[in-house]
Amino acid sequence: MIGSSVMQELAGKTAVITGAASGIGLGLARKAADESMHVVLADVEVGALADAEATVAALGAETLSVQTDVSKAEAVDVLAGATFERFGGAHLVFLNAGVFQGGVSWQRTVADWEWVLGVNFWGALHGVRAFMPRLIEQDEPAHVVITASMAGLMTVAYSGPYVVSKFAASSLAECVAHDLRAQGVEHIGVSCLVPGSVDTKIADSTRNRPDEPPSEAQAPDHYFVADALREMTTTQGRSPEEVADIVFAAIRAGDFWIPTTDSYEELLRPRFADILARKLPGSAQFD
Ligand SMILES: NC(=O)c1ccc[n+]([C@@H]2O[C@H](COP(=O)([O-])OP(=O)(O)OC[C@H]3O[C@@H](n4cnc5c(N)ncnc54)[C@H](O)[C@@H]3O)[C@@H](O)[C@H]2O)c1
Repeated sequence: MIGSSVMQELAGKTAVITGAASGIGLGLARKAADESMHVVLADVEVGALADAEATVAALGAETLSVQTDVSKAEAVDVLAGATFERFGGAHLVFLNAGVFQGGVSWQRTVADWEWVLGVNFWGALHGVRAFMPRLIEQDEPAHVVITASMAGLMTVAYSGPYVVSKFAASSLAECVAHDLRAQGVEHIGVSCLVPGSVDTKIADSTRNRPDEPPSEAQAPDHYFVADALREMTTTQGRSPEEVADIVFAAIRAGDFWIPTTDSYEELLRPRFADILARKLPGSAQFD
């Protein structure tokens, strides 16, 4: 366990969720409402964010929604400020917003790489930089969950931008946890969510891309993987509600890694065996 803050009693506390308008983020927001928490929903997609806030408010939670592009440091700082102003603090912070970009590493454009790293890595880092000083000063038990992926622990072909961004997110979670321990901060826990396949809109992430995404003719390598991802997530993925239950149970247990797939060990053992054998780890399907 990282830190000594195992959060058990959540009623009346405040949860902040980035990427709250869809998928796993919305599942977490609904679960936080079920736990009688105040819920701050942040997302870049305005219409979906308004719908999500209405859904969560209908569950009885006090809500605040803040349109936020997590790839912008100032926007995430505004989110943190608005949270503390409205609810006086934050106790669960889910840095969850993410986008998928696949393709052959050298064929994807700099804009493709910048978009996915901007949301998946910089978004998480901006969240850590905006919230952590406030959580330290707040001096109450709190827990930060960074959503990485099994793709933040294992590598595959045709998904370089996503995989690199998720390794950055998972190693960020580890570094933040080490830094808290090294600095003697005991009231803040950290976890890294590493989902396998979940039934969400992740394969259609370009809906929220600020610049023009490449066409199918320009990036057949991306579309081919996105189609496979859509097929896998919609036919085999766990529901966001199941994932939210797993996440809250793991927070209460004080777990650092939060997998959602039953094949977690089966996938990871061969990877570390390959690393120890000085071999390129096998390219795996995550679920
Ligand atoms: N679905 C899966 O199989 C799966 C597996 C592993 C990890 N993940 C991760 O889970 C997280 C949630 O994704 P999801 O699967 O629920 O997908 P989703 O597309 O359903 O939800 C992602 C949310 O992030 C928001 N978002 C995108 N760009 C943003 C930005 N710049 N600023 C703020 N919000 C932004 C979207 O509007 C959307 O509401 C992501 O980090 C994703 O990489 C998903």
